[in-house]
Amino acid sequence: MSPQTPIYVDNHATTPVDERVLQDMLPFLTDHFGNAASRTHSYGWKAESAVDRAREQVADLISAQPKDIVFTSGATESDNLAVKGVANARGGGHIITQVTEHHAVLDSCRALEQKGFRITYLSVDSNGRLDPEAVETAIADDTILVSVMSANNEIGVLQPIEEIGWLCKSRNVLFHTDATQSVGKLPLDVEASGIDLLSITAHKMYGPKGVGALYVRSRPRVGLVAEIDGGGHERSMRSGTLNVSGIVGLGRACELSGEVMASEHTRVGDLRNRLKEQIFANLDNVFLNGHPTERLYGNLNVSISNADSESLLMRLGDVALSSGSACTSAALEPSYVLKALGLSNHLAQNSVRFGLGRFNTEEEVDYVARRVVEEVGRLREISPTS
Ligand SMILES: Cc1ncc(COP(=O)(O)O)c(C=O)c1O
Repeated sequence: MSPQTPIYVDNHATTPVDERVLQDMLPFLTDHFGNAASRTHSYGWKAESAVDRAREQVADLISAQPKDIVFTSGATESDNLAVKGVANARGGGHIITQVTEHHAVLDSCRALEQKGFRITYLSVDSNGRLDPEAVETAIADDTILVSVMSANNEIGVLQPIEEIGWLCKSRNVLFHTDATQSVGKLPLDVEASGIDLLSITAHKMYGPKGVGALYVRSRPRVGLVAEIDGGGHERSMRSGTLNVSGIVGLGRACELSGEVMASEHTRVGDLRNRLKEQIFANLDNVFLNGHPTERLYGNLNVSISNADSESLLMRLGDVALSSGSACTSAALEPSYVLKALGLSNHLAQNSVRFGLGRFNTEEEVDYVARRVVEEVGRLREISPTS
């Protein structure tokens, strides 16, 4: 029996909300609708205590102190707050990042460059990994911040953040990591990894869209200038009435991810390997993008020679996956991440990203593999040398 279609294998773009998360959120959209900043009645107290609980759940997942969690609208805002917030607090200096970061970090750095900050964009190797020695060499007397993601959103490659974190500590430089894709999937410990700032979003971990958090170390205190001014919420780092239902969802999503992390790693990792084996066994001229082992267990990114990925995706109406990254898919240029690995335009343009997640099954994976093989075969027949 065929699985129900369309089959969703684009879990790096976003994930469905887990039913358990939804159930926890719903009362905060109806009966418990209070403003968490209302101090004078039980509606406000109820909302405030739900936010406090969520703060603990988020903090527990990354071994942080609850008071160091600042709720935001998602990882784009968290990245902006981390990078620009530190820069504006210091008023000048040098920032180190790397070329395969998400646009939220890269464009924040570019904006700061316009204001006179000096930015170093480090290269990665052909597997997409950054060499910690390159970070060490780049650190100068005026370096204020290093920002390196923990896992890439296109190729799933993991960066050696623990090494980089300790290196930054030893040189007295702040370390920010965009952990959007890895939080809840891999163990993360801000203490063990010397992390000062860490970006989180709920919608990549079976929580709702439009809510996230930034971990901001308070001991020793990281100085940060707010991006959004107003009522002084979130210890004046992020003003605005709190999105209580979303925050409750983020908290529960973190708690659940912590509970299932180990079993999900094995199960989803096996599914990813099954998909990879079937694709490689049945198609020639397919190339894996990114490090073979140092990658997110749900990620498979491949270039399929002579099979234009846009045409392939159009033919695969029954499978939801993406070419390159969803965040940049409005642009038709080849992915800057794949180009940074040294891929030709042809291979970068003919790439597809599979993101397997909590709700995928073996039947779905077998179906997806069969359909991809079928449609690549058809495309190659029509245009054997395209
Ligand atoms: C690595 C990374 N950083 C930041 C973001 C932005 O997250 P949000 O959608 O919560 O703004 C994404 C989302 O695609 C991402 O994958």
